Amino acid sequence: MAASGLYSRRAVVGSALALSACGAKDAQSQSVPADLPPLKTVAPFRIGTCVQALHLDDPALAALIARQANQLTAEWQMKMEYIVQPDGSFRFDAPDRIAAFARAHGMGLLGHTLIWYAQAPEAFQRLDENRIGFADAYRNYILAVVERYRGLAVGWDVVNEAVAEDGNGWRGSLWSERLGDFEHIALAYRTAREADPQATLLLNDYNLEYNDTKRATFLKLAERLLASGAPLTGLGTQMHVAADIAPGKITRMIRELASLGLPIHVSELDVSLTRSENKLLSRGELLRRQTAVYAETAEAFMALPQRQRFAFTLWGLRDRDSWLTAENAGDAPAVFDNAGRPKAGAAALVAAFRA
Ligand code: XIL
Repeated sequence: MAASGLYSRRAVVGSALALSACGAKDAQSQSVPADLPPLKTVAPFRIGTCVQALHLDDPALAALIARQANQLTAEWQMKMEYIVQPDGSFRFDAPDRIAAFARAHGMGLLGHTLIWYAQAPEAFQRLDENRIGFADAYRNYILAVVERYRGLAVGWDVVNEAVAEDGNGWRGSLWSERLGDFEHIALAYRTAREADPQATLLLNDYNLEYNDTKRATFLKLAERLLASGAPLTGLGTQMHVAADIAPGKITRMIRELASLGLPIHVSELDVSLTRSENKLLSRGELLRRQTAVYAETAEAFMALPQRQRFAFTLWGLRDRDSWLTAENAGDAPAVFDNAGRPKAGAAALVAAFRA
């Protein structure tokens, strides 16, 4: 989540070098061809975006999504917070709408997310152990949700953000307390596989480009899951990054994640202007760096072997719909502007995907 704040001093020098490569052009003059082709038509892998059911009521946004993307992630309506009701029943109205839109437009669905330390609904906390074992309830939830979207879901973020914020070890949660630190994670993968024999089962996390310790722990967890026989079949890197991230960090992260041989999902990419550590950069400079970050990410992803490019997902298409803009109205983290016009970041993605 918050990419900034963890590192007090990012490699400003490296960023300045990359900037000079952009020449003296300011952000306004970063040209975007009027006839820029849709992302999904040029990328040799699926292009995803997140969506909330209410977005589908906005015809301009729904049209933009259908034109640009061929994979959908539910922004929050497939999380326990939404699905699990206080009495332990499940609601699927909004996730079903998102799934129906994906189906109607021939898009893949990326299930997000089954088990997340941040969400531990009361119904689980209050479970009467005499009536139903915690493990049974945990399994029942995963089976119900995954079975519902079987056939449409190309992948599931089975466990989200399992690694501790500072990268030292794994996060504690209701799930780890009741079922065991490692056991709850392995059980989630085995159960998801029972419910869907086809979907790619992903481990998804953030700050993997910023925090070397966290990335190492993430990879160790993946290796341990594989060694235990758990059906982990993909790695997701969220990539909520800031425009002033040092050049090279993203490339190194993507290359290291790929070293295990699993498919890689760029799962929640956005590039914040306002979360940048360097507060002295002008908006024009931030926008230029934002474009460079989108370019570096797309190029690093394209450098992977085809079989390891699972999908490339933007966490929202238009600036105005982004969670970051809700957090800070001055941000503009996406590759399409508020009117749905492509920004220089979109042109950078197209150029990289076509190469
Ligand atoms: C965010 C959504 O964008 C917000 O709308 C919601 O209120 C909170 O969650 N990591 C994740 C995503 O895995 O699910 C989060 O999405 C962003 C951070």
